[in-house]
Amino acid sequence: MAIERTLSIIKPDAVAKNVVGQILARFEGAGLKIAAAKLVQLSRAEAEAFYGVHKARPFFNDLVNFMVSGPVMIQVLEGENAILKNRELMGATDPKKAEKGTIRADFADSIDANAVHGSDAAETAAQEVAFFFPGMQVYSR
Ligand code: TYD
Repeated sequence: MAIERTLSIIKPDAVAKNVVGQILARFEGAGLKIAAAKLVQLSRAEAEAFYGVHKARPFFNDLVNFMVSGPVMIQVLEGENAILKNRELMGATDPKKAEKGTIRADFADSIDANAVHGSDAAETAAQEVAFFFPGMQVYSR
């Protein structure tokens, strides 16, 4: 199985709840390594660009407002099958539909404040990693 990289964001709701460490521990517990990480306050322009694919969706403005409402923890996760593994750890977009024991089932309050982001495919993972960690800021180990 291929070693992959994926972009993960712990969103403002989960940072505010002080569960960053608990969420990172789940990634590590599943065998994913943290290859880059930073706690940052996104600008509106960054949030709009990152979620540009959703620009035409009715929830776009609320999503951008939410993503700039406080600091986020952004990391690159690396490991076997990292993209799908992270999506499985996260659970469904709507925490009410997320499987028991997933990050969203345990830490998210609603579909719009849903604790985490994770890249959904190889192409988006590469784009999203480069968006937040350009150049040599990612460390394989
Ligand atoms: P999406 O890419 O569909 O989900 P995921 O984060 O699981 O890949 O949507 C991106 C984000 O947009 C989602 O995490 C929360 C927000 N969102 C809403 O606020 N309302 C919605 O109805 C949907 C589908 C998404």
